[in-house]
Amino acid sequence: MKAKVSVIGAGHVGSNTAQLILQSGLADVVLYDIAEGVPQGKALDLYEAAPLWNVSAACKGTNDLADTAGSDIIVVTAGLPRKPGMSRDDLLQANAAVIKSVTVGTAGLSPKAIYVIVTNPMDVMTQITWTLSGFSPRRVVGMGGVLDSARFRTFISFALGVSPEDIEALVLGGHGDLMVPMPRFTTVKGVSVEKLLDAARIAELIQRTRNGGAEIVSLLKTGSAYYAPAAAVFQMVRAILLDERRVLPCAAYLQGEYGISGLFVGVPVVLGKEGVEKIIELDLTDEERKAFIQSASSVRELLSGALK
Ligand code: 2OP
Repeated sequence: MKAKVSVIGAGHVGSNTAQLILQSGLADVVLYDIAEGVPQGKALDLYEAAPLWNVSAACKGTNDLADTAGSDIIVVTAGLPRKPGMSRDDLLQANAAVIKSVTVGTAGLSPKAIYVIVTNPMDVMTQITWTLSGFSPRRVVGMGGVLDSARFRTFISFALGVSPEDIEALVLGGHGDLMVPMPRFTTVKGVSVEKLLDAARIAELIQRTRNGGAEIVSLLKTGSAYYAPAAAVFQMVRAILLDERRVLPCAAYLQGEYGISGLFVGVPVVLGKEGVEKIIELDLTDEERKAFIQSASSVRELLSGALK
């Protein structure tokens, strides 16, 4: 039987994620939204593209969470996007309410699913999903580091004039303004970026990465980024469906790793069919550790605001 992926939220990120999954032929997709007609219209449009993509995957649009029953993966993108000048954290209260109702409405229907959380502020939304779902923390994971690392790779490729494909980059910490791009773990075909660019230039690229989402929000004026976020979600979905055991930076539940306990925050993990199969603990310098802890502390602070 084909795998089933439910995508909650038929906005730009959700519908682009649905497209990438359908186009790959890896799974059938249920696209859910509260807006009547929108998921149905987008699903039908995607269905009609399937013959042109030479795939036979099915796509159902719905306003009923019951249709998500038996999902292998539930991707949650529902919620408000940022407006210019807003940080991801400003979305906390509005999106926490959305995440709560989505989790309560889906967890019991898909007890074997893995949640991939995208809604911002993502690390906190991932933790709320885990708390309310009652799932093992391995089966709840947040998308942030894959996107942030792709942005860092892109900006390094602009600076060096080489293909981003040949750049490996790592961004740790929360998917917020204090995220921690890691030049020491960033290489161009194995050569450290610190040998290729001077410290001031790297600092600029780090700042652009931290501001990567906001840069797009300020250009678009309405809504936030969606092509790269959807591509990042798809990389995670594929890793799970195909049991690829990819090493990807994702928001995962820490239980003592990196000196942090009881918190979802971005770290490298092995992602496969069981979800987060392993958390990889890197040996950080004092400075890197400090930046990571600072980012994690800001996630914890936001979380305590959400649980009030
Ligand atoms: C971003 O960074 C939407 O959080 C997402 O663009």
